[in-house]
Amino acid sequence: MNHLTENKTLIDLLQWRYATKKMSGKSVTQDKIDLIIEATRLAPSSSGLQPFKIMVINKPELKQQIFPIANNQQQIIGSSHILVFAAWHQYTQERVYAMIDHINTERGLPISNGDGFKKGIGGLFTLSQEQQKAHITQQVYLAFGIAIAAAAELGVDASPMEGFNREALDDLLGLEALQLKSVLIMPLGYRDEEADWLVKLKKVRTPRRDFVITNPGTL
Ligand SMILES: Cc1cc2nc3c(=O)[nH]c(=O)nc-3n(C[C@H](O)[C@H](O)[C@H](O)COP(=O)(O)O)c2cc1C
Repeated sequence: MNHLTENKTLIDLLQWRYATKKMSGKSVTQDKIDLIIEATRLAPSSSGLQPFKIMVINKPELKQQIFPIANNQQQIIGSSHILVFAAWHQYTQERVYAMIDHINTERGLPISNGDGFKKGIGGLFTLSQEQQKAHITQQVYLAFGIAIAAAAELGVDASPMEGFNREALDDLLGLEALQLKSVLIMPLGYRDEEADWLVKLKKVRTPRRDFVITNPGTL
């Protein structure tokens, strides 16, 4: 929380935030970055597997290199940090079982307690590469949404982005060696009130009457 967001409801914060197009270059403090990451780490995921990692970029040279990879979008340059959401390249037994073992260890339960879970989750490995990719990516997007809200709570501007060359970013960050693939990036920083063309424009969404259908099929 800060003076901008104190005593604000989630709805107020979602009204306040916007996909910032130009940031001012002002730094975000490490404690705020840590809180945004912690909220992201606490996001739910299918079977609790959390099949992704967060890369934190704050080196100016690296941001400069990401700029052209992200189609020269200005929010890259003025950002304080960039979070890269990088997904497991696929579900491997090694990764999945390690997470199940971790859950049991953290709960003080014997590793064998996870045997049923491991058996039950076996279907994941029979999915095609494309199906696995889709399933893993869905988990990333969900956590991404939580990160957007967490940033808003702290009065930090976030620019959700999928407009970048994933292969080029993977190469730059050496993600293949980590068996990860970039999915989304999120520059964090502070809006440039003077120079951002979007800052004063109305937030527009589908009207509620067109957005919600109550008890469909029962009229
Ligand atoms: C997954 C995702 C990817 C996006 N990618 C980009 C992007 O690459 N560049 C950009 O300027 N905005 C991007 N946006 C921002 C959307 O255009 C923006 O969220 C939407 O128009 C709603 O506006 P608001 O976020 O300002 O309320 C992205 C948003 C999401 C959720």
